Amino acid sequence: MSDSQIAALRADFERDLAGATTVAALRAVRDRYLARKGGLLSALLKSLGSAPADVRPRLGKLANDLREQIESQIDERLAAAEAERPPAGAVDLTLPGRQPALGHRHPLTLLRERIESIFSRMGFLVIEGPELEDDYHNFEALNMPRDHPARDMQDTLYLERPVRSLAGTASTLLRTHTSGMQIRYMEQHPPPVRLIAPGRVYRRDNLDLTHTPMFTQVEGLVVDEGISLADLKGTLFVFLRELFGPERELRFRPSFFPYTEPSAEVDIRCMACAGTGCAMCKRTGWIEILGSGMVHPAVFEAVGYDPERYTGWAFGMGIERVALLKWGVEDIRLFYENDLRFLQQFPL
Ligand code: DAH
Repeated sequence: MSDSQIAALRADFERDLAGATTVAALRAVRDRYLARKGGLLSALLKSLGSAPADVRPRLGKLANDLREQIESQIDERLAAAEAERPPAGAVDLTLPGRQPALGHRHPLTLLRERIESIFSRMGFLVIEGPELEDDYHNFEALNMPRDHPARDMQDTLYLERPVRSLAGTASTLLRTHTSGMQIRYMEQHPPPVRLIAPGRVYRRDNLDLTHTPMFTQVEGLVVDEGISLADLKGTLFVFLRELFGPERELRFRPSFFPYTEPSAEVDIRCMACAGTGCAMCKRTGWIEILGSGMVHPAVFEAVGYDPERYTGWAFGMGIERVALLKWGVEDIRLFYENDLRFLQQFPL
């Protein structure tokens, strides 16, 4: 042992102490110098016996002073570090934050927005209207006068008993389709018209795999001079290919609706069996996706449009039905049960 060794050890200790900022680091420094086994100062003290007898007492005192310095400085710094630690049970502000669970829009909303964006890009206006509707807009003006057999096609939820008089049927109902929005818009605006009207509709259906008493439709309407069936087919096919992918086969099939003439339904290839025939497509290989047609002249007359001058086409489509087909969901009720295990799987 020598003076210079003690001085060197003190310098090392002071450097180590300055670098130790946590309780654990301070304890490690203390062990490094003072541990009985392998501590740097302990090792130095052991070599005291080999120092010349005349300097031994002085060196021994220097080494002991260093030990006291180390002990007191470490204790002082440890006490300060302990005081900075939060008491048990306190909020530790240094912990990384917990990520809050983020939700997203409902799959039916996502799909509705997708449909709106496809039509918006083709220049269509997006409008909304009342779910509480009157008999006139839901039926009468759509060429379904009182006692028209087509009214039986839809089981209507009335808010009060229908009042029948010579003037017609006056009653408030939950709209059975979005087609009344055609009338509401045309009553207020002259042609040309190019719009879609998404919204909820209601029918007296019992809940099952494919029916809910409330569901969502998108109505579409285009009116101008010189609009033809080719416009209808072209626009709807562009839309459906955008929605279901360009490979999906589509077909146009004659149908009937009181407010269109001629009327057509569009089918898509069954995605469950790819056309070979299964339970889902009732062995036909095709699934109906929407109703459409050229606007009936009687509808134009009801809103004061000149049927000699204007022609137009319209369509109506159920959004839930598209969701079931597009995502291969087997039970429509899942969309309304708010089970996160289901909802979190979207968007697909
Ligand atoms: N309103 C019909 C329904 O609820 C769908 C529909 C068919 C709408 C033909 C139309 C149309 O605008 O032209 O099933």
